[in-house]
Amino acid sequence: MCGIVGYTTDPAASNTGALDVVLEGLRRLEYRGYDSAGVALQVGTGGQLWTAKRSGKLARLEEALAAASPPVSGTGIGHTRWATHGGPTDENAHPHLGGNGRVAVIHNGIIENFAVLKNELLADGVEFLSQTDTEVAAHLLNAAYETAGDLTEAMRLVANRLEGAFTLLAVHADVPDTVVGARRNSPLVVGVGDGANYLGSDVAAFIGYTRDAIELGQDQIATITPRTVGIIDFDGNPVEGKKFHVDWDAAAAEKGGHPSFMAKEIMDQPQAVADTLLGRYDADGNLVLDELRIDESALRSVDKIVVLACGTSSYAGMVAKYAIEHWCRIPVEVELSHEFRYRDPVVNPRTLVVAISQSGETMDTIMAIRHAREQGAKVVAICNTHGSTIPRESDAVLYTHAGPEIAVASTKAFLAQITACYLLGLYLARLRGNKFPDEIREILGQLQAMPDKIQKVLDGLEQVRTMARWMADTRSVLFLGRHVGYPVAMEGALKLKELAYIHAEGFAAGELKHGPIALIEPGQAVFVIVPSPRGRDSLHSKVVSNIQEINARGARTIVIAEEGDTDVVPYASEVIYVPQTPTLLAPLVTVVPLQVFACELATAKGLDVDQPRNLAKSVTVE
Ligand code: F6R
Repeated sequence: MCGIVGYTTDPAASNTGALDVVLEGLRRLEYRGYDSAGVALQVGTGGQLWTAKRSGKLARLEEALAAASPPVSGTGIGHTRWATHGGPTDENAHPHLGGNGRVAVIHNGIIENFAVLKNELLADGVEFLSQTDTEVAAHLLNAAYETAGDLTEAMRLVANRLEGAFTLLAVHADVPDTVVGARRNSPLVVGVGDGANYLGSDVAAFIGYTRDAIELGQDQIATITPRTVGIIDFDGNPVEGKKFHVDWDAAAAEKGGHPSFMAKEIMDQPQAVADTLLGRYDADGNLVLDELRIDESALRSVDKIVVLACGTSSYAGMVAKYAIEHWCRIPVEVELSHEFRYRDPVVNPRTLVVAISQSGETMDTIMAIRHAREQGAKVVAICNTHGSTIPRESDAVLYTHAGPEIAVASTKAFLAQITACYLLGLYLARLRGNKFPDEIREILGQLQAMPDKIQKVLDGLEQVRTMARWMADTRSVLFLGRHVGYPVAMEGALKLKELAYIHAEGFAAGELKHGPIALIEPGQAVFVIVPSPRGRDSLHSKVVSNIQEINARGARTIVIAEEGDTDVVPYASEVIYVPQTPTLLAPLVTVVPLQVFACELATAKGLDVDQPRNLAKSVTVE
């Protein structure tokens, strides 16, 4: 939530002014929030900073900048906002200024003690121009600089007074060629260039310029100048930041000819699954998961797994539950991180927590894993973002290799998360002796076939697209699924809600008769994810019965079924066929038509599928 960019170079030695670099960073970070945007530029000492800010999307700021005459500058900061304190107005847009426009601050997070601090500042006669929590930091920083005479030290003094979550970046009119950033519970990375350095909420902020980066730890401050990067902790001790190289380039964060990032990311899914499997099996097809560095005896003694995640990632966790329980015979609970954290859960050293997060920065999940570790649990993160907080605070990490996911609604990361969950399940099954090596090789072989199957689904979706355009005026859609089809139904409903703003609900198909069937009336659109007829326990026939029940009440049934399944045909208004797949792996193909349906329908309604209203990609507040 909120995108933050800082940049400094020697303007005499560089052709790229700060404004261009900061704006490009903001364009790449806009998925983190788009309620308002703003920039501050350093224009020589002794005066004021040059700032501009506007409510609304970044395009509004760019229009304003085109009409103004921004100065040439080598140092600047920029912000794109997801509003927390104070509505999305021009006044509440960042940067916020202190010292009569000599210091500018941008912020991601929530300063929980801002009311106390604001009262103190008001008592000292400070005038506030916004309703934000951030503005207190700007005034405090101005005062601290007056006392300390050093911007890094001033930032350290301020950071120690703030409670809550914050990434702060600041520039000062009297401190040339310098940007200072501090982080607690919110993300910040340093980009290391040649004669230029960068700060960003994530590496996308500077990926067009450098792929060399430094991770900042909790409670640290980074000071960048064109040729130096200095890091200290909140006690003032120097810190050696952890360097890393970003393994994707700027092209991966472009639309590549697709109408939206979401459309591109849906098409990227075969690759996302293939890349997540890559390097995780050897030439003989045996599982290789060296990165899972947790003591094997501890893993053998685990008596419960708790999956913690939010939103789409929690649906990946639900798929994991079916697979891991079946393969490993360990009880698996899946819980929304925000519910887990505050209900005194039973967790102990024999609990393995699996934290699933695309961004690695979801505050609800961060707080949940901290709580679990305090109770002695081991935590494995499944994450798509290198250098982010959740992997850093976990005992081990299994990275998904979906590449950057820019569209706010998750698609390819979801498939990659499910894939990583299968790998983890197979690893545990082998370690605990629940599966023989040849059984694991067989499942791994089935997994390796999935990218082609997903591609086949993507190649045959014209029917779904036509149907979505035709249904653009629909007001409500229900989704039913059973077994692993249940989380797929939930995900299908979530995609439609967030992209097309249509009321949608996902139910377990067996639950229908316990209440939701009352919603069925003539013409009600219902998607049904039908299990494979080759699966176990006659689940298929039970779901076919559910289709008959809703069909008899006049519903318009859109059925997702396995190729060759003719049993569903008499009762379905539409059948969307997906390739034959082992039951546990089926979500990797059955969810794809639902993603495409939501994306196409929202597009037909003229909506921005990459940046749905009120949302932000990375939810860094609780
Ligand atoms: C929905 C979506 C969200 C995220 C959720 C968790 O399309 O993207 O529901 O899945 O906010 O985010 P991460 O995975 O970054 O922890």
